[in-house]
Amino acid sequence: MNIATVPRTPPIESRLPKVGTTIFTVMSALAVEHHAVNLGQGFPDFDCDPALVAAVDAAMREGLNQYPPMAGVPALREAIAAKIEALYGHRYDPGSEITVTAGATQAILSAILAVVHPGDEVIVLDPCYDSYEPNIVMAGGTAVHVPLVPGTFGPDFEKIAAALSPRTRAIVVNSPHNPSATVWSKAEMERLAALLRPTGVFVISDEVYEHMVYDGAEHQSVARFPELAARSFVISSFGKTYHVTGWKVGYVAAPAPLTAEFRKVHQFNVFTVNTPMQHGLARYMADPSHHLGLAAFYQRKRDLFRAGLERTRLVPLPTRGTYFQCVDYSAISDRSEEDFCRWLTTEKGVAAIPLSAFYADNYEQRIARFCFAKKDETLAVALDRLAQL
Ligand SMILES: Cc1ncc(COP(=O)(O)O)c(C=O)c1O
Repeated sequence: MNIATVPRTPPIESRLPKVGTTIFTVMSALAVEHHAVNLGQGFPDFDCDPALVAAVDAAMREGLNQYPPMAGVPALREAIAAKIEALYGHRYDPGSEITVTAGATQAILSAILAVVHPGDEVIVLDPCYDSYEPNIVMAGGTAVHVPLVPGTFGPDFEKIAAALSPRTRAIVVNSPHNPSATVWSKAEMERLAALLRPTGVFVISDEVYEHMVYDGAEHQSVARFPELAARSFVISSFGKTYHVTGWKVGYVAAPAPLTAEFRKVHQFNVFTVNTPMQHGLARYMADPSHHLGLAAFYQRKRDLFRAGLERTRLVPLPTRGTYFQCVDYSAISDRSEEDFCRWLTTEKGVAAIPLSAFYADNYEQRIARFCFAKKDETLAVALDRLAQL
């Protein structure tokens, strides 16, 4: 073909110029290449309950394979409403206040697109989950980063108050918290409610680890606090709760006016979420022990992993919720967090994630994050390797 006639792709201006390959992808690829135990990315290496698969299989065989209603299968929305009411005492109307989403990720994006306009600011608390800022940028907004208190990773209400401006449209909160494994207390939620009382700021509450809170503590959903519930999108994920991260099904609960705007975005984004999974999840949710048993299940793994860490020179930080365990490695190395995690993966055979990856300014604390949602055997192999450090 004549060079002059070769079709040329026009140059594209990036919508997200700052986004590159994420550290999770990098570490997972390194883990495969170097046969490392992957305690980096947050997903279980064990399977879900066969009863859940059977419930989805039954729904498919019953012919439940066509488009469901836009907001989700009514039986699943009813089951979600019943669960939230039983646990947090707030009744959301399944018809007008609950929407099933393609995982929490889509719920967060759609909530942000629903409320954030160009020029708006959204407060995010660093370290934070990596999708928040690109989502805010996609809506034309600006992420205003406020650090959690170094060391304790609790909210710094003075700094949050100082970050509030007339342009603040929303704040993203995440408890139990990825990556620090901290859990907000009732008093902290009440302080958030008091701080936002005179404002029109919405809360995007990422509660994907709601059922992983340990040592007898209770998850403080924003749904428990009427003032917060009135301004919040409460977001959760079946992927985390039922060990099916690959299914990508979650939900958002929000007051009817917020849900109405959310659904406008949802309708022209994914429109709806796959039908048989929704029916299967609705049937499986009928037994509350499936979500109520999760805390004990993961607390045992947390304790096993932490007991094993005593044989190492890594110093574990408290894990009050989630399936993450952060460790201070400063007794072993003064490398940067990313260098340490690369070294740990490629030379020592255990993949971890640097905490700095969760900060906009890559703040360094000599802390790495492990995920303990793994088979006991996997954790044992990782711990043997970590004991050699
Ligand atoms: C804090 C947080 N929010 C949201 C998500 C995404 O959830 P989903 O897989 O349901 O989209 C994750 C997954 O790692 C997470 O850690």
